[in-house]
Amino acid sequence: MKNDPLLQPYKIKHLEFKNRLMVSAHEPSYAEEGMPKDRYRLYQVERAKGGIGLTMTAGSAVVSPDSPPAYNNLHAYKDEIVPWLKKITNECHDYGTKVMIQITHLGRRTSWNHSDWLPILSSSPIREPAHRSFPKEAEDWDIDRIIKDYGDAAQKMKEAGMDGIEIEAYGHLLDSFWSPATNKRQDEFGGSIENRISFSLKVIDSIRKSVGSDFIVGIRMVADEDWKIGLTKEEGIKIAKRIIATNKIDFLNIIKGHIDTDPALTKVIPIQGMPSAPHLDFAGEIKQKTKFPIFHAAKINDVATARHAVASGKLDMVGMTRAHIADPYIVKKIIENKEDTIRPCVGATYCLDRIYEGKETLCIHNAATGREQYMPHEITSKAKKIKKIVVVGAGPAGLEAARVCAERGHNIVVFEASNSAGGQINLICKSNRRKDMIGIIDWRLEICKKLNVKIIYNCLASSENILSEKPDVIIIATGGVPNTAILEQGSDLVSSTWDIISGNVGIQDDVILYDDNGSYPGLQAAEIIANKGSKLEIISPERFFSPEVGGMNYVPYAKNFIEKNVKITISKRIKGIKKRDNRLVLTINSDYSDKIETKEISQVIVEHGTIPVDDLYFNLKKNSFNQGAVDYKSLINQKFKEIIKNSKGSYYLYRVGDAISSRNIHSAIYDSLRICKDI
Ligand SMILES: Cc1cc2nc3c(=O)[nH]c(=O)nc-3n(C[C@H](O)[C@H](O)[C@H](O)COP(=O)(O)O)c2cc1C
Ligand code: SF4
Repeated sequence: MKNDPLLQPYKIKHLEFKNRLMVSAHEPSYAEEGMPKDRYRLYQVERAKGGIGLTMTAGSAVVSPDSPPAYNNLHAYKDEIVPWLKKITNECHDYGTKVMIQITHLGRRTSWNHSDWLPILSSSPIREPAHRSFPKEAEDWDIDRIIKDYGDAAQKMKEAGMDGIEIEAYGHLLDSFWSPATNKRQDEFGGSIENRISFSLKVIDSIRKSVGSDFIVGIRMVADEDWKIGLTKEEGIKIAKRIIATNKIDFLNIIKGHIDTDPALTKVIPIQGMPSAPHLDFAGEIKQKTKFPIFHAAKINDVATARHAVASGKLDMVGMTRAHIADPYIVKKIIENKEDTIRPCVGATYCLDRIYEGKETLCIHNAATGREQYMPHEITSKAKKIKKIVVVGAGPAGLEAARVCAERGHNIVVFEASNSAGGQINLICKSNRRKDMIGIIDWRLEICKKLNVKIIYNCLASSENILSEKPDVIIIATGGVPNTAILEQGSDLVSSTWDIISGNVGIQDDVILYDDNGSYPGLQAAEIIANKGSKLEIISPERFFSPEVGGMNYVPYAKNFIEKNVKITISKRIKGIKKRDNRLVLTINSDYSDKIETKEISQVIVEHGTIPVDDLYFNLKKNSFNQGAVDYKSLINQKFKEIIKNSKGSYYLYRVGDAISSRNIHSAIYDSLRICKDI
């Protein structure tokens, strides 16, 4: 263990990192009025507790008010941020973790229509497709102002006791000057590479003047935009060398690719089903060519790859960012020889897709992330009284309940109707691209096994066999079944997306998939149909297509649908279906118009979420203490209390996950964690 390359210290100037693992900058969107208050701090401190060598806080803390926070970013230009950051820094330092912050001007990668309503700017007035705002061309007075803003912000970060800063230069303002794709200027900031980087060099000068020569200043920079019209690798390397030659920068954090569209972004931050560590060799090449301290993060999700990155000399500091969103205790587990207990990052990118929708970062299967104030990442407090707990269903909600209750020291039996655990996750894993999702189940099964949880498979639980266990608590996690009976007429003529995904129903030559859910099952079934070569139209009543699927996760589906000529129709509803010979005749209308049309087709698939499998719950309700009731007040105050509604009851009864209503994996897991941590 002592010789583990990941656990070796690394020094830049005076600053020693205790190991080679870092979390790269990522904006979790926990700020309150631009300030990193308790939620933000506790999130960072949890990673420090877990042993990380460096936490690069914030993601793009903004240096100027005309860089409106796109993801609830921190306001690095405000004086009142200093004490908040100081608190984070001090508390992380208590665990030996070094703390830096990424600062930026977002340029065109934001929107003008909030915060101070200032116009946004870029090197040239070219719209970024992802944020859809039209920037103005930065004028001389903007450039002077922003150069000063960088220096002032850096000074504040130093005042907050931080160990250093990182300047962001990929997809934001600085590199919009570097890239031929975005810089069309005719003045001294356009044209030659020297001209295009002169603004950045002035920014670096301004920062150095503010913070002096000792403070650590790095740059997270694109060194190859991997784009026909963008910055080439040769130019990127030239820029890197030119920046190093200033002697004012202490490390490079290497990025490959461009981020102006969702598909491009997924190449920089790969999602599920994309190769691991795709840019590690590239970062290594920059290391080799510059011999300079190199940091890098891009889907290095497992410890073995991270170890290789350092051992092979490609990187000095390895970012495992989403991996630490899923499990903040990676370093601690490496040190304690418990690598096999690391909660795996399954690459779902729920964390990142959420911030692009204006929500905060949450992990698909760690409901404690971002809720450190109340939710434990590790269940360490044992229950005062050991209880017998029966869990019905071994999907994500049921297994989370079993895991948490078992960690509390209770005695657990799980009944599962099928011959394996996983529930709906088994359907998701039918997609090759999403097979890593099984990690959500396997991680829990492994813990349950260690804690002697008894799982009885092939057992359709009845009240009798549940009660024969003499349970103190019963948790119903029976999930749901597809809800296809939603048409005014002819619901019996349709199949469900689950029928298609599981392969239970054959696929015909021309198919309509009616997606009145807008989530993953519709897209997954559509992909299977399209891959088979059938003619497919997806009809959705919504204004936008697939609103429950995040921008990054939508990318591979969109690619497939375009390539397979899938027709997508929005704002239309299927009202009814009639059979005519061997064909189906659909009546279609819309919430927006009275116009009615008909269509003839061979097969209709309907997606409308699930209906709960809840008969057991209702059968067991009467004889429970709580009559199934959950005290929402204590639940949302994060200290769940059982309530008694029937003193003659024999057990407490709870329902979790889709057994209540059709939702998602995160909510199923959170249901279980927040009840079971206090049972
Ligand atoms: C929620 C979230 C927010 C992010 N925000 C930023 C950001 O503001 N600035 C930045 O340079 N990178 C940001 N990133 C990218 C990460 O720093 C990192 O490059 C990326 O997650 C790939 O590394 P990983 O595979 O180890 O997660 C963000 C990532 C996540 C998950
Ligand atoms: S949401 Fe998915 S990608 Fe993000 S940290 Fe959790 S497991 Fe990893």
